[in-house]
Amino acid sequence: MLGPCCSRGIFETIEWQCAIPFFDAGSSFTVSNQNPTKKTKESWPTDAAMRQVYSAHLWGGREHDFYSGEGSHLAELVDPYVEVVKAFLSSFDPRLTVCDLGCGDFNVGRQLVEHTAHYTAVDIVPELIERNRQKYSDDGLEFHCLNLATDPLPSADCAVVRQVLQHLSNAEVHTIAQKLLHYRYVILTEHLPDSSFVPNKDIISGQGTRLKKKSGVNLLAPPFELSVKEQKALLSIALTPGKGRIVTTLLRFF
Ligand SMILES: C[S@@+](CC[C@H](N)C(=O)[O-])C[C@H]1O[C@@H](n2cnc3c(N)ncnc32)[C@H](O)[C@@H]1O
Repeated sequence: MLGPCCSRGIFETIEWQCAIPFFDAGSSFTVSNQNPTKKTKESWPTDAAMRQVYSAHLWGGREHDFYSGEGSHLAELVDPYVEVVKAFLSSFDPRLTVCDLGCGDFNVGRQLVEHTAHYTAVDIVPELIERNRQKYSDDGLEFHCLNLATDPLPSADCAVVRQVLQHLSNAEVHTIAQKLLHYRYVILTEHLPDSSFVPNKDIISGQGTRLKKKSGVNLLAPPFELSVKEQKALLSIALTPGKGRIVTTLLRFF
């Protein structure tokens, strides 16, 4: 692992080179048995797909009770992210209220709570939310089991959406994107291909990402086309060649 090759102000991109292998997950699917010679991917409801990811440890981490993947645990990926987000949050007085959309096992979110006025963390997996409630408690912290696509979302000054949309179909991303417009700030993190790519190729919601289609989520591009008042690249961490990069962007909607 190499350190940052250039580091500027918090609103400028910090490029990291991360010489580590990255767990490459496929997508949750069932194989249609209508025609046994032809394997067809059929989508599961997202809550079932995500519950299966955790119960079967499809993102690794068998030694953990719940594991949201290497992106949520490798210090090379988590520490620089926590640093830039902490710097952003700490620049506000009074502090911002934050909603963590798709909080996962909360190894990342737990490090941000103290820099906020209030932190609401939500995820679609009920057992995970119950476990997070037991494991992490703080005066300004609450957990809710919600489906980002179908449930109303808690209000806050800032939404944190880290490596969530990359796992969801365009239909779900579209619905969620409309709800993001209600937050003044959104800190969005996506796993993207190494070089230029056609954004927003559709996938089935589940454990996999658009990387397998050499694509990634861009909320400002068709078919989502969100318009932002301001956009700033906060962090880009390159994985091993061919495994893409983890990119964090600050969006301001009003
Ligand atoms: C790869 S994990 C990332 C977790 C966390 N944001 C982090 O960076 O450590 C993606 C999380 O998004 C959650 N998720 C996916 N689709 C969701 C939905 N529609 N509503 C709520 N949570 C969802 C999953 O259950 C999973 O915990």
